[in-house]
Amino acid sequence: MLDGFHILTLTHRDAPLEALAHAIVPGENTADTLEQLKSAMGWEELLYLATCNRATYVFYTQEPVSAQLPGMVLQHIRPELSETTVMETAARMRLLHGNEAVTHLLEVAASMDSLVVGEREIIRQLRQAYDQCKSWQLTGDHLRLLMGFTIETAKEIYTHTGIGRKALSVVALAFGEMQKTGLRPNARILLVGAGETNSLYAKFLVKAGYRNVTVFNRTFAKAEALAATHQWRALSLDELAFYSEGFDALVVCTGATSAIITPELYQQLLAGETDKKVVVDLSIPHNVARETTQQFPMTYIEIEGLKETANQNLAYREQEREKAAGLIQERIYAFRDRWHERQVERALAHIPEEVKAVKERALNEVYGREFSQLDPQAQELVLRMLGYMEKKCVAIPIKAAKEVALRGRKQRKQVSLPA
Ligand SMILES: NC(=O)c1ccc[n+]([C@@H]2O[C@H](COP(=O)([O-])OP(=O)(O)OC[C@H]3O[C@@H](n4cnc5c(N)ncnc54)[C@H](OP(=O)(O)O)[C@@H]3O)[C@@H](O)[C@H]2O)c1
Repeated sequence: MLDGFHILTLTHRDAPLEALAHAIVPGENTADTLEQLKSAMGWEELLYLATCNRATYVFYTQEPVSAQLPGMVLQHIRPELSETTVMETAARMRLLHGNEAVTHLLEVAASMDSLVVGEREIIRQLRQAYDQCKSWQLTGDHLRLLMGFTIETAKEIYTHTGIGRKALSVVALAFGEMQKTGLRPNARILLVGAGETNSLYAKFLVKAGYRNVTVFNRTFAKAEALAATHQWRALSLDELAFYSEGFDALVVCTGATSAIITPELYQQLLAGETDKKVVVDLSIPHNVARETTQQFPMTYIEIEGLKETANQNLAYREQEREKAAGLIQERIYAFRDRWHERQVERALAHIPEEVKAVKERALNEVYGREFSQLDPQAQELVLRMLGYMEKKCVAIPIKAAKEVALRGRKQRKQVSLPA
């Protein structure tokens, strides 16, 4: 029943990342290339998704699909590729049909097929790809229905399984570890570095309500920009050596290739305080000198120590993938029903117009003369009766189709129930 849906794909599972490039539509004139591809292949609808680890063509056609399709598509989108490259790349591509294709798209959206299982970014990418293809008029009713269902299913999987639940990113893990120390929202936090990593860390700080943060950076303007966004304080990195207000947590992450936080500097930063501090160092190489970590009492959070947690969390997500696969198997039936109902709806879409035309013909042609001879009161009654009949006649086939669909669903449920 879902026979019209197909997917041609090349992903990180099938090929090294550099080989993926061969299946990607070149940046210039993407819309034209895809339009020509769709028309050359005789597809009714097309959705194209390209990310850093997949090139995927989801298409709809009721015509038979040739096993030679991968090579034909590659020749079309990348005519400059050599015959050998086309053959090698085509051999790695997967061509999926019907149920298998729909299942694959659901798995992609639920991030079960991602490089990092549970990474939700794929949903955004898929939505964006769909909106783009829709605006290029490449998609239609079948892919609209499939996309809506796909996003709905992915959300359900994220809610009912732990596939995206346990953190994997270094920043999220480090922040989680810092939180475990029980820092209060008014804790004094020194953020050293205002690059990408610390900007991300800053987002976690804001979300958790930390407000007493001082940002230090080599380029003062960047410290200022990061601090201003959250109404924190900004200072130049040079001022770190003179900072004497004490602190509760020190988060260091810069591109410096030698240690910044030497024992001397750390002693200065303590400003006479002797309690145990929290020190987070996400830099590679470390920005906090080994001697500093050895000489002072601190909860020290750094990348190596986070790896084990990351591996455990990844194993947990892999386990949850099994649960997600079970959910998808159940959901496929729901999609079949929805797709079938939509086809019935489309097939019946012309009925209201036809019934209306019959009514008009009766009034104007078949009984035209008799109708015109009736007095206004009788004419109004006839019109009201015909209007009523029209409504009821339109509803009859739709009601019948819904009953058939419902019966089918009930039967399928009974068949799938364990004895
Ligand atoms: N383990 C991980 O997963 C992971 C992930 C991302 C990053 N990192 C590490 O985190 C560090 C920063 O990465 P990023 O992505 O945030 O980099 P980024 O966006 O390029 O920012 C670099 C930051 O470091 C500062 N900086 C560079 N060289 C410096 C130096 N010699 N002395 C003092 N400050 C210096 C820059 O200051 P200016 O603004 O003045 O240039 C900027 O604040 C790197 O060591 C990187 O390897 C690790």
